[in-house]
Amino acid sequence: MALPFPMEKGLTLPQDFVHSLKIRSKYALFLAFVVIVFIFIEKENKIISRVSDKLKQIPQFETDANSTDPALLLSENASLLSLSELDSAFSQLQSRLYNFSLHLGLEPVMEAQGPEAASGKPSQQTGTGHRRHVLLMATTRTGSSFVGEFFNQQGNIFYLFEPLWHIERTVSFQQGGASAAASALVYRDVLKQLLLCDLYVLEPFISPPPEDHLTQFLFRRGSSRSLCEDPVCTPFVKKVFEKYHCRNRRCGPLNVTLAAEACRRKDHMALKAVRIRQLEFLQPLAEDPRLDLRVIQLVRDPRAVLASRMVAFAGKYESWKKWLAEGQDRLSEDEVQRLRGNCESIRLSAELGLQQPPWLRGRYMLVRYEDVARRPLQKAREMYGFAGIPFTPQVEEWIQKNTQAARDSSDVYSTQKNSSEQFEKWRFSMPFKLAQVVQAACGPAMRLFGYKLARDAASLTNRSISLLEERGTFWVT
Ligand SMILES: *[C@@H]1O[C@H](CO)[C@@H](O)[C@H](O)[C@H]1NC(C)=O
Ligand SMILES: *[C@@H]1O[C@H](CO)[C@@H](O)[C@H](O)[C@H]1NC(C)=O
Ligand SMILES: *[C@@H]1O[C@H](CO)[C@@H](O)[C@H](O)[C@H]1NC(C)=O
Ligand SMILES: *[C@@H]1O[C@H](CO)[C@@H](O)[C@H](O)[C@H]1NC(C)=O
Ligand SMILES: *[C@@H]1O[C@H](CO)[C@@H](O)[C@H](O)[C@H]1NC(C)=O
Ligand SMILES: *[C@@H]1O[C@H](CO)[C@@H](O)[C@H](O)[C@H]1NC(C)=O
Repeated sequence: MALPFPMEKGLTLPQDFVHSLKIRSKYALFLAFVVIVFIFIEKENKIISRVSDKLKQIPQFETDANSTDPALLLSENASLLSLSELDSAFSQLQSRLYNFSLHLGLEPVMEAQGPEAASGKPSQQTGTGHRRHVLLMATTRTGSSFVGEFFNQQGNIFYLFEPLWHIERTVSFQQGGASAAASALVYRDVLKQLLLCDLYVLEPFISPPPEDHLTQFLFRRGSSRSLCEDPVCTPFVKKVFEKYHCRNRRCGPLNVTLAAEACRRKDHMALKAVRIRQLEFLQPLAEDPRLDLRVIQLVRDPRAVLASRMVAFAGKYESWKKWLAEGQDRLSEDEVQRLRGNCESIRLSAELGLQQPPWLRGRYMLVRYEDVARRPLQKAREMYGFAGIPFTPQVEEWIQKNTQAARDSSDVYSTQKNSSEQFEKWRFSMPFKLAQVVQAACGPAMRLFGYKLARDAASLTNRSISLLEERGTFWVT
């Protein structure tokens, strides 16, 4: 009896050949296949082109604040195809590619789809409690570095700072359309492996590539205490160019194996990411019993975020500055649409989270930066309570020290600020017409999060007018 050719071929491969293909080639292949996948889909199903067209339309539609179907990003007439539909098309292709790679005699490219994924062992449980995995989901300039420190400072948590930076760097997905959806799926799969302490998954994305699992180029290594303490901090021997080094001591290049071991030894894992756009994509992670995932979505007043981005990423906001300086020029519609699209994707994620679909129940918490800035200790305690991780004096001490610092910090990425003084600073330097543009583009998000619109220039700068509605811990008003 003839077995189907691909399986037979796959099963009779010489083992040493299979083993010679390492993780690196696995992800490189995966990426190559992502491209093939989309060619397949375009040709056969036309799904991607439909999605792609529709994704481009997101910002143009009136928002529907009552949208209740979590499977749909926007209401029917907003025309965005369900992401689950896309995801299922993607899984089918993954399965086809799995067969295809067996056919070619390659190690299957998709680990998550491979046979070993099903038999994954539960996380090793150490210490007192049950291992927790916390994802701090944010966007840039929302204070996520600061909030990330709440977890970084806790000795029994393994914390990673923006590991997905490497993926964004290596894989240049175009803005919008099918590529945006593809990148979200890659981010998700990498994220899952990282939460499981499979740090090797990053290696193919690190440039220059690590040798022997050693690298000096892990993005902002110094922002993870766990990567800078013994035994992950190996003795510093020779001076080499080190782009990202530890803050308080010199270490040898990062040994990824040692880091992964440390990750498994710690009681909990936390990770901060500003590159996850849609909460919906995380469903497979939330449903993975090995992870017992907790998602904390951090949001901030979009007016403050824009003001902060215009300083931190000045180059990207040239047209905004020109518009502000030369009154008559119209601000390009593209810029406004991009702003609206950003606000909408944050709002849609939050709305989904607050609806608490069964897969997210008890796993989602929405936090406003402004509340953290005004009551850092209280919010930190709440986040720890939500995560189910005991709050330690170590973290408390760090918060005390770093929220009452003198205002001499000129580093735009600094987390050390008198936070209760800082959080409203933008109001006094932001031109009212800029605030108006944000209010017009981000109205639905601002309403949801309790950011009040400023009526006029005077109320924007009037300290006795609060622009913040109070919200309870779990968003119960
Ligand atoms: C949302 O639902 C409420 C009550 O069901 C309704 O009064 C309101 O008009 C709806 N809003 C939109 C934008 O459909
Ligand atoms: C939605 O689209 C359908 C068909 O395209 C149309 O019949 C319906 O009136 C639209 N609904 C709204 C609220 O625009
Ligand atoms: C892959 O191969 C398996 C086993 O032969 C088969 O059941 C499955 O349908 C194949 N998947 C695709 C998408 O061709
Ligand atoms: C990295 O650490 C592992 C685990 O201790 C060790 O076996 C390996 O030799 C180290 N790699 C290098 C290049 O030192
Ligand atoms: C921080 O700012 C608040 C509000 O302006 C002020 O009350 C407090 O004294 C400041 N703390 C320090 C240490 O400067
Ligand atoms: C600020 O707002 C308060 C309350 O609305 C008002 O009484 C006060 O006159 C305003 N101050 C200025 C300088 O406009």
